[in-house]
Amino acid sequence: MGDRYAVIGNPIGHTKSPLIHGFFAQETGQDMSYKAIEGPVEPASGFSDSVRSFIAAGGRGMNVTAPFKLEAFAMSDERSERAELSGAVNAMKFENGRIIAENFDGVGLVRDIEVNLHQPMAGKRVLILGAGGAARGALLPFVAARPAELVVTNRHVDKARALVEQVARPLTAAGSLIACGYADLEAMGRFDLVINATSASLTGQLPPVPPSVFSASGSAYELAYGKGLTPFLRLARNAGVQGIADGVGMLVEQAAEAFAWWRGIRPETRTLIDRLTVPLD
Ligand code: ATR
Repeated sequence: MGDRYAVIGNPIGHTKSPLIHGFFAQETGQDMSYKAIEGPVEPASGFSDSVRSFIAAGGRGMNVTAPFKLEAFAMSDERSERAELSGAVNAMKFENGRIIAENFDGVGLVRDIEVNLHQPMAGKRVLILGAGGAARGALLPFVAARPAELVVTNRHVDKARALVEQVARPLTAAGSLIACGYADLEAMGRFDLVINATSASLTGQLPPVPPSVFSASGSAYELAYGKGLTPFLRLARNAGVQGIADGVGMLVEQAAEAFAWWRGIRPETRTLIDRLTVPLD
């Protein structure tokens, strides 16, 4: 059976991670298994107990998904800077009795945008909608991609401000990093890239973003995937944006980052992205 890996979440039935890592393992000739584990939400110690029993059974690493990313953060012994900053963990490695933690969501997103969608962020105007866990995970890798301007918008603007302050301190060399409310966006002109990192699309809602933020030659990216043309992507398309994408590439790229971290070999991602892509309309 080889080295053992798993993804843990609740619910977990929808996860594509076993398929993705199974494909990577085959492609790179790695002797390993990868399964899905439904982590118990009750009792409070249920998550850490599940992780520890997986480690005791010889587990080498795990991906972590909702609702356990913060608990994984709390139980880890060592954390990367991006995991530390995002306050959340989506991948763990078990080595010499220690739990080492990472968060590849943001780097996976940046890689999808820059490499797969051919939209380098350096020198560009980038707008992130939302200031929850998804936006927090993306922020450090986004700043590292050196956009000219990075604007974070949230309904509760204090949350956007807190996030920006947290990142701005360690990264003063970045271009301008701004927090604002949706009502301020009208006056801010067009952005080269607009990312929907809110959870609005999960309930079919549209964040209150004015169409004036979109640029026809720019891109709009929806973090959710497999939901077709969400209200956000529809708004972008109606505003004339040609480059619209959902988060399927991010899903595969963050998995590839974790795989490379665990196995020391980076799998090819294009084939799998094409296979998992659900047409937007
Ligand atoms: P998570 O950490 O899992 O991403 P969260 O912290 O609840 O979840 O964050 C959800 C994000 O989506 C928040 O930025 C939220 O905005 P508020 O903080 O102002 O509530 C945003 N969000 C959810 N539904 C939204 C909607 N209909 N329009 C705009 N933003 C929305």
